[in-house]
Amino acid sequence: MQVKEIERLSGCTGHRRRQNCTNRCFHHKYRAIDGSCNNLRHPTWGSSHTGFRRVLQPIYENGFSMPVGWEKGRRYYGYPKPAARLVSTTLISTHAITSDDQISHMVMQWGQFLDHDLDHALPSVSSESWDGIDCKKSCDNAAPCFPMEVPPGDPRISNRRCIDFIRSSAVCGSGATSILWGDLMPREQLNQLTSYLDASQVYGYDDKLGRDLRDFTTDRGLLREGPTFPGHKPLLPYASGQFVDCRRNPLESSINCFVAGDIRANEQVGLLAMHTLWLREHNRIARALREMNPHWNGEKLYQEARRIVGAEMQHITYRHWLPRIFGSTIEDSMLGSYRGYDPNVDASISNVFATAALRFGHSLIQPRLERLNASFQPIPQGPLNLRDAFFAPWRLVEEGGVDPLIRGMYATAAKLKLPEQNLNVELTEQLFRTAHAVALDLAAMNIQRGRDHGLPGYVKWRDYCNMSRVETFEHLINDISSARVRQKLRELYGHPNNIDVWVGGILEDQLPGMKVGPLFKCLLLEQFRRTRDGDRFWYENPSIFRAEQLVQIQQVSLARILCDNGDNITRVQPNVFLLPESRNDFVNCDEIPYVDLNAWSDCCENCEDRDNTISRVRREAEKYFAPSRDYVKDTDSLSREEKIEYLQRMFDESNRETKRLQQQSDNLSRRMKELELFLKDIKTQ
Ligand code: HEM
Repeated sequence: MQVKEIERLSGCTGHRRRQNCTNRCFHHKYRAIDGSCNNLRHPTWGSSHTGFRRVLQPIYENGFSMPVGWEKGRRYYGYPKPAARLVSTTLISTHAITSDDQISHMVMQWGQFLDHDLDHALPSVSSESWDGIDCKKSCDNAAPCFPMEVPPGDPRISNRRCIDFIRSSAVCGSGATSILWGDLMPREQLNQLTSYLDASQVYGYDDKLGRDLRDFTTDRGLLREGPTFPGHKPLLPYASGQFVDCRRNPLESSINCFVAGDIRANEQVGLLAMHTLWLREHNRIARALREMNPHWNGEKLYQEARRIVGAEMQHITYRHWLPRIFGSTIEDSMLGSYRGYDPNVDASISNVFATAALRFGHSLIQPRLERLNASFQPIPQGPLNLRDAFFAPWRLVEEGGVDPLIRGMYATAAKLKLPEQNLNVELTEQLFRTAHAVALDLAAMNIQRGRDHGLPGYVKWRDYCNMSRVETFEHLINDISSARVRQKLRELYGHPNNIDVWVGGILEDQLPGMKVGPLFKCLLLEQFRRTRDGDRFWYENPSIFRAEQLVQIQQVSLARILCDNGDNITRVQPNVFLLPESRNDFVNCDEIPYVDLNAWSDCCENCEDRDNTISRVRREAEKYFAPSRDYVKDTDSLSREEKIEYLQRMFDESNRETKRLQQQSDNLSRRMKELELFLKDIKTQ
């Protein structure tokens, strides 16, 4: 009660309370929708609405809650912190664009979609300060407003002193409210989402949203579908007024936002197309499972399809996407191969990963989205400038559906990050222009957010990552090779210790073959290792899928997802993260491997009377008489104990299956005998 009152008065948000995970049967089998009870000893680890994990202690101006730069003119290492907007216009924003010659724009789109599975810093509950100041109207620093000052001579904004910015919500009992608890604690921010790579952007992050997304009108385990237009597959359901309003310009369209598992789904139409494909993938799988297992109820169909979808996303991310970022396979990168679930690893998303490192992806975004027809030619409406893609779901409905956007992403290049070409101007000068008096600036927001969250500076993180010591700007030469960039950094920051972590990280030269420099590589690996090893439901954990199911999951590719769920995608290159070229050229969809869901076929105990018994038995038999598996290879990476556990399980399972098949075969023989006798009877009558 007291916490609720403090929440109400101060705008902080309560941390998730303890979970007891009493429903062991459920928690052993399936993920909770909010990520709780994944780690049974630490049930809140990685669950939604818990604080981000700190790798380094935060730095606040007053030691516990005010961001650096709060007090105007305050000096650090002899220099004031530069305005975030000034850093953006001086060093980050670019009109000039160079396209990558290897990776497709799909690398960007998967990155954003993935991020929306992993983290969302909960915004402050209200955009008004305690004194009733509206963050959109005032340029004063008054909680929760932390406006970004517009420097004199700004290239775009001349009629305003600031760009509005609202601080992320604080965990109750941290920062300012920690005083009420009598124990001063630095301010911590909350992750609205589950930290696990669990497809929460499809299924939601709490019970309420999770249920709202499901279709309970039938018992088929489906997600709710929205409108279906002729010649197209279903779209996401429309949102019923919550979150954001997409009808910002009634002259354009009256189509509202769509609803998905993450509230940012409508942020740009490319992202929305991706959400739409994965809604369809869930329903495609749930329908196929039902076909095979008519005795499964809706809950089972939903949970099993959800488990497969989550596993597909993990496989695509670790086997196909990360290698494009780190330029090598998982085994070759510092991530190493999977060695099993480690319950001592906390998979919660770190603050620096969400607030800085993963935002490297902003440097891959092209200023316009290509939209291509089935012959890979532009559609009549042409490409879409990013500024027109924000919160414009109507374009998905009225301008050709998901296919043109998706083809544009896999058939054209991502933006290449160069020392002086970091974020395109659509992002720094045109962001969300219809909803704000002055368009936002994503680069400035990244910087301001880092300060809001108390992230230590770039140099501190270099130390953490065992990079060389930096005392002057010249010491940066090995990682930021451009002399012009170092000079501008000096002019802006005065002292290297003042460089914001996102700025230093994004300005580093990319390592050979990679899309990030050494700092972000280190911080991304720190998280991606935990996301894999600390997830009890990780798809390669031998207790999650049967061996023959895992083999099937490993067949998946994003290309297959596009073929199966696009409206009419028929040609695609096998690796959609790489541009189509001779070794990765367009092929027909039927040449792309698929996940054979027969591995999920499950004979029921009392189904002998059903008319498909014979075909089911045949299918089952085929499965178990399939060429023998290479168990030596399958268990290669496991420890001795894990090997024993795995093989024992395989043995028990095969034993059970043999008995079941034996029983069914006996039943069938009996029935054949009866039929034979019956036939004889009739013939002799
Ligand atoms: C057109 C594409 C994109 C747009 C318009 C966009 C826009 C945004 C915006 C407005 C924010 C919130 C900034 C703030 O208030 O702090 C944000 C946060 C973020 N973005 Fe993007 N973004 C895009 C693509 C990407 C990509 C490709 C990645 C990664 C590969 C990415 C990673 C992130 C991350 C990690 C956050 C922080 C999320 C959180 O935990 O709150 N974004 N982005």
